[in-house]
Amino acid sequence: MIRDAAEFRAAADDRREAGGTAALVPTMGALHEGHVSLIRRARAEHAWCAVSIFVNPLQFGPDEDLGRYPRDEPADLAVCERLGVDAVWAPTAQEMYPPGVLLPSPEPGPIGDVLEGASRPGHFRGVLKAVHRLFDACGPCTAYFGEKDAQQLFLVRRMVSEERLPVTVVGSPTVREPGGLACSSRNAQLSAKEREQAACLFLALTEAAELARGGERDAAVLVAAMAREIGATALAHLDYATVVADDTFEEIRAIDRPARALVAARFPSARLIDNLRLPSAKPATAGS
Ligand code: PAF
Repeated sequence: MIRDAAEFRAAADDRREAGGTAALVPTMGALHEGHVSLIRRARAEHAWCAVSIFVNPLQFGPDEDLGRYPRDEPADLAVCERLGVDAVWAPTAQEMYPPGVLLPSPEPGPIGDVLEGASRPGHFRGVLKAVHRLFDACGPCTAYFGEKDAQQLFLVRRMVSEERLPVTVVGSPTVREPGGLACSSRNAQLSAKEREQAACLFLALTEAAELARGGERDAAVLVAAMAREIGATALAHLDYATVVADDTFEEIRAIDRPARALVAARFPSARLIDNLRLPSAKPATAGS
């Protein structure tokens, strides 16, 4: 495991100089099956695979769960070793954000202020600063992110394209527990009862997807169905339910292009998010 940024960069450079490509899986640790699938894919597609572990304080608001965020470095290192990860960069806060060094702080723009950005002011500014720093420390690479954090993925892709960073961003499908709950480090904070009820996020999204498949084009109908499902769950408090265009992440009223349904809900012990790409309508069968 490496703490030093220069040592991490040298390890990645050595591999690139030897002719291989580098993959990076950025994480905040507390590795779960979602991370495992990202790491497996990164390993399969590249000669050298690195995982970064850093709980980034800049992306937590003052009333959020930074202090309670699950941390278990020995368990994370064991997962990385089992999966054959070549390098784990787990910087200290000083290595990540060296005091006195003015690091780039990319602007998330208007999409950074809606949905997750509205509920968590400053969140995406913190995410982009961390991701920019991780990319800079690793150098040219392919970086793997989960689709569960769809807004994050959208903003990271836009940052890479606007700043012409030498990074290819890959989004990988959300991994789910048997009841549909999306794997997340925050699931560890839920009580058994909350965990059971947290399946309402996926149920809500599946209802929206069914409506879209059946030909419903009015996003308000999907939003109402999702809000009803989450609203009917005793321990869940709906934060938002919405439909966005996949290519702009703007909320839409008519589902007339590739779109995604998103939900966020607060449980007593954790706030959860999830999303699902909406299928296109099933073609009408003859005579129907
Ligand atoms: O998705 C995460 O775990 C974090 O937001 C990331 C990308 C590692 C940045 O801190």
